Amino acid sequence: MTIETVPNRITVLAGIACESDSTETVPLTEERSFGFWQQDIPEPYAALEPQEIIERIRVARQRLGARCIVLGHHYQREDIIQFADFKGDSFKLARWAAEHTEAEFIVFCGVHFMAEAADILSAPHQQVVLPNMAAGCSMADMADPEDVYACWEELEEAGIAQETTPVTYMNSAASLKAFVGKHGGVVCTSSNAAKVMEWAFAQKRRILFFPDQHLGRNTGIKMGIPRDEMPLWNYRKPYGSLGGMSEAELEHGRVLLWQGHCSVHQRFTVDQIAEAHERGAQVVVHPECRAEVVEAADCDGSTEFIVRAVTDSPPGSAWGIGTEINLVSRLAKENPDKTVFCLDPVVCPCSTMYRVHPAYLCWVIESLADGQVVNQIVVPDEDKRWAKVALDRMLEIN
Ligand code: 13P
Ligand code: SF4
Repeated sequence: MTIETVPNRITVLAGIACESDSTETVPLTEERSFGFWQQDIPEPYAALEPQEIIERIRVARQRLGARCIVLGHHYQREDIIQFADFKGDSFKLARWAAEHTEAEFIVFCGVHFMAEAADILSAPHQQVVLPNMAAGCSMADMADPEDVYACWEELEEAGIAQETTPVTYMNSAASLKAFVGKHGGVVCTSSNAAKVMEWAFAQKRRILFFPDQHLGRNTGIKMGIPRDEMPLWNYRKPYGSLGGMSEAELEHGRVLLWQGHCSVHQRFTVDQIAEAHERGAQVVVHPECRAEVVEAADCDGSTEFIVRAVTDSPPGSAWGIGTEINLVSRLAKENPDKTVFCLDPVVCPCSTMYRVHPAYLCWVIESLADGQVVNQIVVPDEDKRWAKVALDRMLEIN
């Protein structure tokens, strides 16, 4: 397989990269102008030819043998996923890290919060490496730990915190996973949010759910919670203003939703679904989409659920998909007997997932083979201890 071409025009809008429909190749260095390039990667890697990168990764992996394993999230670009020993959604990858202690190095091709989860759950002798430290998640960044602590303090002052279970989506900083662990809470992913919320309600009568309002709302709706019992906490409001809620809304609220979202998934619309249905296609979307989109779709679920829905469908099936384009394109390629297309005609990759370019993978793997660990993800011990409590609760629930 060759290195995938980089789209020739990329505009960064509200944290997402939207490419034009052209696929002309541009040099890797072009990505630098968008800030994708991690500053301290050695200069020669930027100049490597695609075939040379592939060959060098192959040789370095051979040198490392079973000491190194490469994990790949479903949103990773094709020219990265070809090197993954194991692919999955964020839950499957986290569980893999908790269960496999053999490899000394886990090279995590995904985004920062996923690599942190792997560091928390893996054994002490294992080291987790993220090829590009600039591969974050714009949704996770919408829950600044200081804002969440301030919110909790306000809930304490209002006498609400003691009857609230904090639930954080996997897409969050390790320090927030530690926060929920310390406060009797739990982590969830898009593959287990309903089970986790049931567990949380069994502890306390209310949930504080962050950072993705849509996953929280969509799960609450499926559980039969009326929308007016899921008010939105606006973290941009000044301290003391209850995130823009009235005292009555707060008191009445069963799920307090954080005002975070994923820009990639906000692009999908009910109209696009109607068009897909007119084409005779079934529609599957990720639960980070808006509630009306999830309601109009035939089914919704995590990236692994989407993979299974398409893969397990009979030949001749047609699928309109509402999720990140690298996954949709891969499903189209891997299912030539089916019609698979993205709901959104303006193709939008997750710009942060996209930052893991093969040149970074080459750099980190060659460094490991040379005895040097670069880009190691190290969650501080105290956070690790409590975040593990919250993640272990999630793993026990599943
Ligand atoms: P999954 O847990 O479904 O893989 O989703 C992660 C994610 O970031 C979706 O945008
Ligand atoms: Fe984060 Fe959205 Fe990218 Fe998923 S698709 S990693 S939620 S920015």
